[in-house]
Amino acid sequence: MKKNADSTIKDAILVTGGAGFIGSNFIRYVFERTDYKGKIVNIDKLTYAANPANLQDISEKYKNRYFFEKTDICNYDAVMEIFKKYKITKVVHFAAESHVDRSILGPKAFIQTNIVGTFNLLEISRQYWNAQISIQNRSIFRFHHISTDEVYGSLGMKGLFTEKTAYDPHSPYSASKASSDHLARAYYHTYRLPVSISNCSNNYGPYQFPEKLIPLVIINALEGKSIPIYGDGKNVRDWLYVEDHCSAIWSILSNGKAGETYNIGGREEKTNFDVVNKICKILDRLHPARESKFSSYKDLITFVKDRPGHDRRYGIDPSKIENELGWKAEVDFDAGMRKTVEWYLANPRWIKNIKSGEYLKWIDKNYSKRQ
Ligand code: NAD
Ligand code: TYD
Repeated sequence: MKKNADSTIKDAILVTGGAGFIGSNFIRYVFERTDYKGKIVNIDKLTYAANPANLQDISEKYKNRYFFEKTDICNYDAVMEIFKKYKITKVVHFAAESHVDRSILGPKAFIQTNIVGTFNLLEISRQYWNAQISIQNRSIFRFHHISTDEVYGSLGMKGLFTEKTAYDPHSPYSASKASSDHLARAYYHTYRLPVSISNCSNNYGPYQFPEKLIPLVIINALEGKSIPIYGDGKNVRDWLYVEDHCSAIWSILSNGKAGETYNIGGREEKTNFDVVNKICKILDRLHPARESKFSSYKDLITFVKDRPGHDRRYGIDPSKIENELGWKAEVDFDAGMRKTVEWYLANPRWIKNIKSGEYLKWIDKNYSKRQ
């Protein structure tokens, strides 16, 4: 992070949605892998997708620098209070409803959190940046909005998404994220609020909620359940190991420019069928199936009805962030998948807590004050 007078001490980063998959990995990354010396304040509503236990060790190790506030980003007064209380200097906005299938079944929460919640945060940031912040902190303030490549729609066999690709979202999830991107950009152009945006491809790695393809496949396989592949399995996603996403966000916060958008991706396009096959192969090697009903985890693969409006192919051109900020994905797909499967194998308790709903009881016990 760029250093100006005292910035290492005075910096206070507000992370929204930090109890979810990427947010918790990001907080861990900043504390453990960078030279950041300031505070991190994590605000999260603790939906079904959150598991604050993901950061239990971090909250103990960094108890003077890590703070958690159970708060809904749609609550103006509560969030404004947090901005003032911690003298926030940067916002990294992850909080969202994030699963396409859920957005098809029930889009309302996506509109509320992803659009109204982002608007609320932008508006609070603008008021705070205009009237509440110290002159010194005003110059280092940044609102970084985390978004997805899904806003660009679906690609044919050729071509890649660049920062100039026109928006063409197809699901309620991607439409809500597109809308929030437009609002974030509007706040830069209209009010000069120092906003940056990144649009990233599909992430995978530790702590991902098992509704998304990769953890769902690993856990179903370990439980001997069928592995569902939608449609013909030839839809393509561009996979990025979550730690590489975190390092990209850190390089944007440190050296990226306000008003700019950066596409983030690992140049690792794979069909869903290839991804599932890869997981089965790794599991066959690291954790051979002991049940007699199947000899390889591949036997569990089942082709199921396609997702409505299923985008065929996503592919990111990350040249801008590579050339302008010197960022590069470091973990290739083979290594990332091995690390990921190893992590799930090493954490049966985490899986049990999620699957049994134990984590929700834990949240109720420890965070009973609901907003
Ligand atoms: P996630 O579902 O694992 O976590 C989302 C977090 O946001 C949860 O902890 C949840 O409790 C919190 N949250 C939801 N509504 C909230 C509200 N109203 N107020 C406060 N907190 C709230 O999601 P993720 O996969 O970690 O994704 C994080 C961000 O990254 C999202 O903005 C998503 O659109 C974006 N993104 C995700 C991917 C991916 O592959 N997962 C790829 C690109 C971009
Ligand atoms: P997902 O992890 O839900 O991410 P996204 O929809 O945001 O890309 O899905 C990744 C791909 O895997 C997508 O093409 C849908 C497909 N998929 C399956 O084939 N089976 C499944 O059970 C799931 C959850 C996803």
